[in-house]
Amino acid sequence: MRTHDPADRSVTSRRRWLLSAAGLLAVAVALLPAQAAFANGSRVDRDATLRGEGRELGIQIGSAVAATPLAGNATYAQILGQQFSSITPENEMKWASIEKTQGVLDFSAADAEVAFAEQHHMLVRGHNLVWHSQLPAWLTSGTFTNAQLTDLLRQHIMTEAGHFRGDIFQWDVVNEPFNDDGTLRSTIWLNAIGPSYIADALRWAHRADPRAKLFLNDFNIEGIGPKSDAMFALVKSLKAQGVPIGGVGFETHLGLQFGFPNQFQANMQRFADLGLDVSVTELDARMILPVTPALLQQQADTYRQVMNACVAVTRCVDLTVWEYTDKLSWIPGFFKNQGAADIYDENFAPKPAFFSTLDALSNPVSKRHHRSRGDGD
Ligand code: XIL
Repeated sequence: MRTHDPADRSVTSRRRWLLSAAGLLAVAVALLPAQAAFANGSRVDRDATLRGEGRELGIQIGSAVAATPLAGNATYAQILGQQFSSITPENEMKWASIEKTQGVLDFSAADAEVAFAEQHHMLVRGHNLVWHSQLPAWLTSGTFTNAQLTDLLRQHIMTEAGHFRGDIFQWDVVNEPFNDDGTLRSTIWLNAIGPSYIADALRWAHRADPRAKLFLNDFNIEGIGPKSDAMFALVKSLKAQGVPIGGVGFETHLGLQFGFPNQFQANMQRFADLGLDVSVTELDARMILPVTPALLQQQADTYRQVMNACVAVTRCVDLTVWEYTDKLSWIPGFFKNQGAADIYDENFAPKPAFFSTLDALSNPVSKRHHRSRGDGD
């Protein structure tokens, strides 16, 4: 029961005064660090991180990770844990890495990466269960019947997805199944099992780890064209058949010399409209060397456009860069005279592309399902 005692009223008004003073203070504190400008003119908080800004939008920001520098380079590990909320083992979960000798499984490198992720409250993308590349030599040079290959694949998927059951939020179950013209790539799996190998792999993976979201992942499907049309037709038909497909990964290995993919956002959106998650899984933007300020600027614009597209598509739930530092990028080893594709340079200094990516998250093109500050990871 409320009283009308003047003393009580003064307590109430004092409390009100204190509350509004505290409120003003809170507003002042909130305004203080806001919108500090970096030397390069980008409008983001001084202490903002990719993972922190991504969390505001419900986007996990990931990086590929390599086991050797993770164990031996403290700077690499520190930036990884600070800036990213997800990792993808760059090689350590591939079949050639875990089963060099038939029947002898070694998950130790991948386990160490998963442990790092857990310690730093990060998610893990599993990469990958079925691919034509980085297969063990005993498998590719062996003489197996189609029935044996089918058994080997099933066993591999059940064993690996089973080993990491509960640790993986998204599995790249089948990696790079298409040719650029939209036909299925001729691989050991297509040849042994036929086109159903994709649905089979998804079903086996689902049995082994029912909670992981299961993905098909490919490159050159960012824009609309024959290859992305083929992926679209495939996942649509898989969904219609009740095959456990949860998402599509757009690798997004871009080259500045090719320009930006045609209708990237609209393309991701049509997959999202099928009820799938869409992920940018292996983003980098290489250039023909040498590096120039103009190329670094073009690269920054490219990363910004990719992030803007992801922000604009609500089902784009994560964006992963394929290594965050040029020091460890796969590009120079695979594309002659090209490189500098990542958001940090070889000395771990953030490049213009880092700031444009951060800025795209801090000043999003659309609101998405904006969550309040202070949410946990
Ligand atoms: C690359 C790794 O980055 C390299 O270290 C390795 O030598 C070859 O594979 N598409 C993929 C990735 O799905 O697994 C590839 O990763 C890059 C292209």
